[in-house]
Amino acid sequence: MQNIKEYVEANKQRFLDELFDLLRLPSVSADPKFKGDVEKTAEFVAQKLRDAGADQVEVCPTAGNPIVYGEKIIDPSLPTVLTYGHYDVQPADPYELWETPPFEPTVRDGKIYARGSADDKGQFYMHVKAFEYMMKNNALACNIKFMIEGEEEVGSKNLGTFVKENKDKLKADVIVISDTSMISMKQPSLETGLRGLSYVEVEVTGPNRDLHSGVYGGAVANPATILSKLIASLHDENNHIAIPGFYDDVIELTAEERKALNEAPFEIEEYKKDLGVEELWGEKGYTTIERTGIRPTLEVNGIWGGYIGEGAKTVLPSKAFAKISMRLVPNQNSQRITDLFKKHFEAIAPDYVKVEVKPHHGGEPVVTPTDSVAYKAAEKALNDTFGVKPIPTRGGGSIPIVALFEDVLGIKTVLLGFGLDSDNLHSPNEKYGIENYLMGISTIPLFHKYYAELSK
Ligand code: BES
Ligand code: MN
Ligand code: MN
Repeated sequence: MQNIKEYVEANKQRFLDELFDLLRLPSVSADPKFKGDVEKTAEFVAQKLRDAGADQVEVCPTAGNPIVYGEKIIDPSLPTVLTYGHYDVQPADPYELWETPPFEPTVRDGKIYARGSADDKGQFYMHVKAFEYMMKNNALACNIKFMIEGEEEVGSKNLGTFVKENKDKLKADVIVISDTSMISMKQPSLETGLRGLSYVEVEVTGPNRDLHSGVYGGAVANPATILSKLIASLHDENNHIAIPGFYDDVIELTAEERKALNEAPFEIEEYKKDLGVEELWGEKGYTTIERTGIRPTLEVNGIWGGYIGEGAKTVLPSKAFAKISMRLVPNQNSQRITDLFKKHFEAIAPDYVKVEVKPHHGGEPVVTPTDSVAYKAAEKALNDTFGVKPIPTRGGGSIPIVALFEDVLGIKTVLLGFGLDSDNLHSPNEKYGIENYLMGISTIPLFHKYYAELSK
């Protein structure tokens, strides 16, 4: 039997070639233009699962993009690990800001540059390759199930139904997901929480048509100006969110919990430099780690209206729009927050405009246990491969389906992510370290081994 390190070393190039093939498929879920590529990607993933030795591999149709399922049940008396991931990716726009094309994976400086390299193709594919190793070397310690979906980046619209309709098939003892970040290659970490999400679009309407800004400017309210004022009023002078009731359900951490959280290494100067900002911003009274991990936030994701083409057009627009998201923390509820936002935004709108608030997808926050067998197995596995004990962190991103897994299946998740926050997720020049990819493949079989051992 070859050990995992030797196996990774011997198969490294093939592991990269296969991931590159996967990354060449532009499986953008947000844009219907890529529907055909999305389907091809699902087939590709299914074939790779079959090649690695999975049984019952299926590309399961849904009302949206298909879900890829596969399993290997070696012994019903052993624990079962359900691996979740997503093969869909964010749109690559703006294309002109990519140094090399988003769907032509390129290695620079030991990093794989491509849309989806870290989020999440490079990460879920580690599990496929780790599974291949365990199959070839008779080293499978647990039963394993795979569920790789194609709509995570658009809110997992059809996954909930699939999960509810396939409770038996998905029966497992733990869910493992590699779709989060760790602190660094020197300091591995495990995210133990994900924020929830409320997402709304607002539309502000002034006059019934676009107007000449000279003829009418000064006489009617400009919806773009009003929208800007409304948005600016959503934070107070301390950068607290000024929506009444917004913080009512937030669970405050104890002083001890906050202290532990802030003990994680964090280089503020490096952080600022990487982002190209002179100063950081955020809610008064909280550190940067807290602002992104345990505090709710409100962001404008896009704002538009009027003339945005070449040159200057003198126009007073009839409408202005914004897409606004709120990240939520434990015990907030996305429906309640969306309702509060809508009520507030409508209440503060002046009479000279009409506002409409349209809700998009949402999701609930989660915290994952640190005293579970799965967490301990992950901790041990990372400790083996990195030579350093991983520390628990709280992630700023959202994987809304995790709360639903817990609700519907009653299964807890362990977030075994190998990405870095600086991987440019959702941005141009997304990247994933080759080392991260290979370390992930080496760590996963150990997780299975320790999970089986500690479950006894
Ligand atoms: N993998 C990310 C979430 C993530 C990134 C969690 C980094 C922790 C650290 C996921 O693909 C994602 O982008 N989720 C969306 C939510 C979804 C409903 C569009 C998000 O967080 O914006
Ligand atoms: Mn992801
Ligand atoms: Mn994402």
